[in-house]
Amino acid sequence: MKVVAHRGYSGRYPENTMLAFQKAVETGCDEIELDVQLTKDDVVVILHDERIDRTTDGAGYVRDYTYEELKQFNAAKCWDGKYDRMAIPTFEEYCLWVKDEPVTTNIEFKTSIYYYEGLEEKTIELLRKYHLEEKAMFSSFNHVSLIKAKKLEPDIACGILVDDELGNAGYYCSQYGFECYHPNGAKLTGAVAENCARHGIKINAWTINDMALLERLGDLNCSGAITNFPGICRAWQQAM
Ligand code: G3P
Ligand code: CA
Repeated sequence: MKVVAHRGYSGRYPENTMLAFQKAVETGCDEIELDVQLTKDDVVVILHDERIDRTTDGAGYVRDYTYEELKQFNAAKCWDGKYDRMAIPTFEEYCLWVKDEPVTTNIEFKTSIYYYEGLEEKTIELLRKYHLEEKAMFSSFNHVSLIKAKKLEPDIACGILVDDELGNAGYYCSQYGFECYHPNGAKLTGAVAENCARHGIKINAWTINDMALLERLGDLNCSGAITNFPGICRAWQQAM
């Protein structure tokens, strides 16, 4: 099962920052998961929430700032001075770094609450620019974003994110040409896992921060565990 670092090594470092991504790679994880959105001047940036209040010392919506404005805020705010100030990364900065790293990337389009027109196109443009198409996959709670991404770049795998279990997940994914199902791991049932297996759909579940859940995913033949603690998750895997 691949170990996927959720927002980088977010259990120990400020989420969705270059530091969290670098530290995740140091743990030997297989993949990095991150969230993308668009600034007011159409720069693809990496941030989870649509608002910047929780994770930075700024306030308001990502979409209301240019990147020049946004990068002034401290993305390490939640860690009470443990880490130096750091900026919200652009996706291009990430691509430039990750192209030489031995990991793949799960890029989540954050388009459920606010739909950023052009986000899928701009993200794909950057992947192409840095020749990262074969080292990337897309995910989103907004399946329309994935339908769009699939049309634009059919060779990049897509995984549908769901919180409440989707009964016929394997069939659903196969009808759209999606390769993966990304459920809440605590809610994944054996019946749905079987349905996915029957349709050749891989399961990458989130957010796997305890060993019992990781073990259960193994029993259900999941392909990936999306975790805030990639180093610990790897150690659990080796201990099983
Ligand atoms: O990819 C799994 C996970 O990232 C989905 O939830 O809210 O952390 O983006 P969230
Ligand atoms: Ca995410």
